[in-house]
Amino acid sequence: MTTLMPDPDAVAPAVENLDTIVSLAKRRGFVFPSSEIYGGINAVWDYGPLGVELKNNVKRAWWRTMVQERDDIVGLDAGILMAAQVWVTSGHVASFTDPMVECETDHLRFRLDELPGTEELTQTELSDPAIVERLGLVCPADGGPLMPPRRFNLMFKTHMGPLEDDAALVYLRPETAQGIYVNFRNVQQSSRKKLPFGIAQVGKAFRNEISPGNFVFRTREFEQMEMQFFVRADSAAEWFERWLPERRAWYERYGVTSGRLRFREHALDELAHYARRAVDIEYRFPFGWKELEGIHNRADWDLGRHQAESGENLAYFDPATEEHYVPWIVETSAGADRAAFTFLIDAYREEEVRREKRVVLGFHPDLAPYTVAVLPLLRNRPEIVALAHEIRDDLARDVMAVYDDTAAIGKLYRRQDEIGTPWCLTVDVDTLEDRAVTIRERDAMTQERVPIEGLRAAIRDRLEAARA
Ligand code: GAP
Repeated sequence: MTTLMPDPDAVAPAVENLDTIVSLAKRRGFVFPSSEIYGGINAVWDYGPLGVELKNNVKRAWWRTMVQERDDIVGLDAGILMAAQVWVTSGHVASFTDPMVECETDHLRFRLDELPGTEELTQTELSDPAIVERLGLVCPADGGPLMPPRRFNLMFKTHMGPLEDDAALVYLRPETAQGIYVNFRNVQQSSRKKLPFGIAQVGKAFRNEISPGNFVFRTREFEQMEMQFFVRADSAAEWFERWLPERRAWYERYGVTSGRLRFREHALDELAHYARRAVDIEYRFPFGWKELEGIHNRADWDLGRHQAESGENLAYFDPATEEHYVPWIVETSAGADRAAFTFLIDAYREEEVRREKRVVLGFHPDLAPYTVAVLPLLRNRPEIVALAHEIRDDLARDVMAVYDDTAAIGKLYRRQDEIGTPWCLTVDVDTLEDRAVTIRERDAMTQERVPIEGLRAAIRDRLEAARA
């Protein structure tokens, strides 16, 4: 596999400073800090009216590509809470850990591989118990001495039922994938799918990250969009190669700049406990190249272990060859929050229009929180206002449509540009006569007159064209 390594500076997003996005996100209602009136809770974020639309659209776009448009993948929505034994069998209880160091003076804890000076270290080097001493690492907060590293398990624990004893222990799932594995037989038998086929799922996952941060990039509660593709062992390597470009193409299809994406192969000592091979799709975030999605060859690790531990037969009967075998799994694992964040960053641009700054979120129309905004040119003319409301209500049967009359038209356009609305419809005095409105396009700012009668079809055509 060739690794594309563009010059990071040449492909850096327009957002140099994350504060630009954080403040736009708060001001316009994309993302708020959780529990803010109580001072907030670290690494949990709430999605506001526009953020929930964006994230829902990201999840819908993923489902469309991964499930709706394919006939070899079906969906599932498993519970977040599962039998605790699932996580023992899957290896997460023993191995889902990060290396952590603690300061001897202020007792703050840090992820070892996030400390300054450890960026280039391999996993083998990071596992060296003498690493702190060898590199002279100190606490980034107070410069105090650090204790030797230890492994910290990232799974959140809780108790099920009224007794808080060990027998009632359950974990909040750290990946959605296990819900798919334990349902493999149910799904395969009920859907009658033949291998190769996949099971897709979108849902919450939880990780007690040692060093969360960079806004919604790494949080403790997040959503994953995962697909597990079940194949014969001898075709797993080939399917792995097929999924790499497919998944990269999905981000490009929905507007991410191609040069800001690259593949990164995991070194052998970096592989997760379940993976034979792993390649990340990385994005050039303002804080550097970071993982956006992981593609993993999990071999028969999961189904093999669940079969052995549960005593249930999870083998697949292949009617073509009359063989029974435990399938291998090629997994594509994306984060819904991280993807939405990426689309947000990548869509952001500032331009100068008539000597004024114009901020635009150039979202793909399928991702934009609002598809259309309906704007009356004169808010003191009741007939115009009433007609504008009528048009919005009609369009809202198909798409998210918003009405706004709280400023002059130029300002209303800028507000919609800043939240990425692809089309603004202006209702003016002429509309009362000719029963037509002006459609103003966000990127080119071109305007076209369209009859009210054909508006729903006109918007549908534009959406269809954007998808082509
Ligand atoms: N089932 C495999 C798995 O979970 P992963 O590489 O640990 O693989 C997959 O996670 C994706 O989930 C990541 O690429 C990222 O998009 C998202 N993700 C993981 N941890 C996250 C976190 N703490 N906050 C936000 N997204 C996260």
